[in-house]
Amino acid sequence: MDLERIFLLGFMGSGKSHWGKIWADVSGIPFIDLDTRIEKATGMLIADLFEKEGEDHFRKQEALQLRETGCTPKAIISTGGGTPCYYENMGWMNRNGVTLFLQASPAYILSKVMLEKEKRPLLKKLNDAELLFFIEKTLEDRMPYYMQAQYTISCENLTSNSLQDILPELKIRTNNE
Ligand code: S3P
Repeated sequence: MDLERIFLLGFMGSGKSHWGKIWADVSGIPFIDLDTRIEKATGMLIADLFEKEGEDHFRKQEALQLRETGCTPKAIISTGGGTPCYYENMGWMNRNGVTLFLQASPAYILSKVMLEKEKRPLLKKLNDAELLFFIEKTLEDRMPYYMQAQYTISCENLTSNSLQDILPELKIRTNNE
């Protein structure tokens, strides 16, 4: 199977951007971070977009920028934690690439996002107790979307080789092939 686009899905803190960058680098294909695309397109930080324009506006921009990735034939694309849950984005990703869910437990997510709560508008107003409750509840709500991904990987033991190891049928071709 020739690889076109891989969409990385998963909750905040599951390592989509971190591993996406590494895997794209190892495979010699472009890396796209959807949140960064939204920030460039709107000229605003995600936190400011949420605050000044509201979440609905952010979700529209997210759906729009997601579809723009359809112009890049081969890439690893890190989506936002909520991307699969709005505007039929999940169906669109499944039709336009390979979808890979990085699965993480609430405890793992908590340990990652606690350190960088401030840059995430959905988390920054929550105290530590509320944070775990929010993660558990939102993860449960989002699972039906994440489970529509074509592949699932536990994010807790990933390595830079994992993409090829875990998805052996996916052949990642470099730009030179
Ligand atoms: C969101 C996750 C964020 C970002 C926005 C909303 C969410 O991306 O898109 O703050 O709804 O879970 P990351 O998952 O990359 O943190």
